[in-house]
Amino acid sequence: MDKRSPKLAVYPGSFDPLTNGHVDIIERGARLFDRIIVAILVNGEKDPFFEACERKEIADEVFGGFPNVEVETFDGLLVDYAARKEANVIVRGLRAISDFEYEMQMALMNRRLNRLIETVFMMPDERYTYLSSRLVKEVYALGGSISGLVPEIVESRLASKMPRAD
Ligand code: PNS
Repeated sequence: MDKRSPKLAVYPGSFDPLTNGHVDIIERGARLFDRIIVAILVNGEKDPFFEACERKEIADEVFGGFPNVEVETFDGLLVDYAARKEANVIVRGLRAISDFEYEMQMALMNRRLNRLIETVFMMPDERYTYLSSRLVKEVYALGGSISGLVPEIVESRLASKMPRAD
């Protein structure tokens, strides 16, 4: 491979919602790669909290000031999407050992499907190693504070979708 070819990475996920752990990985990716596409899976969960277009609006707002970060939605096989974009890297965040098995299965399956695309794992700041979209939704729904765990726009979107008494 031409060593000077621009490195385009895809960072896929459900992002329902985007957390500061995701933001941390995207910022790291934006420093490491020439371009990084945040690829939001459209039909992942049966009953997503935010529709894919809302998740895209949120990420567009958060990364509007990053010239080499793009946000798209995708459907179907991730490797097919990455190949269409001519991306040679898939970025995934690894928070803890508990992520490893699922991530290894996905990385190896994706490699089997397309040998030209490498999965690169990145570790978020240790402040975010326990953070997940699922926990954010649960804590918010039960009245807990999610301040500092998600971008402000996520807090305000959650508040307008699921108003709380506090
Ligand atoms: O971080 P998430 O939300 O668990 O992301 C999972 C995601 C979107 C990366 C994964 O479900 C995916 O790639 N889905 C697309 C369909 C696909 O390619 N499946 C085979 C993966 S080996």
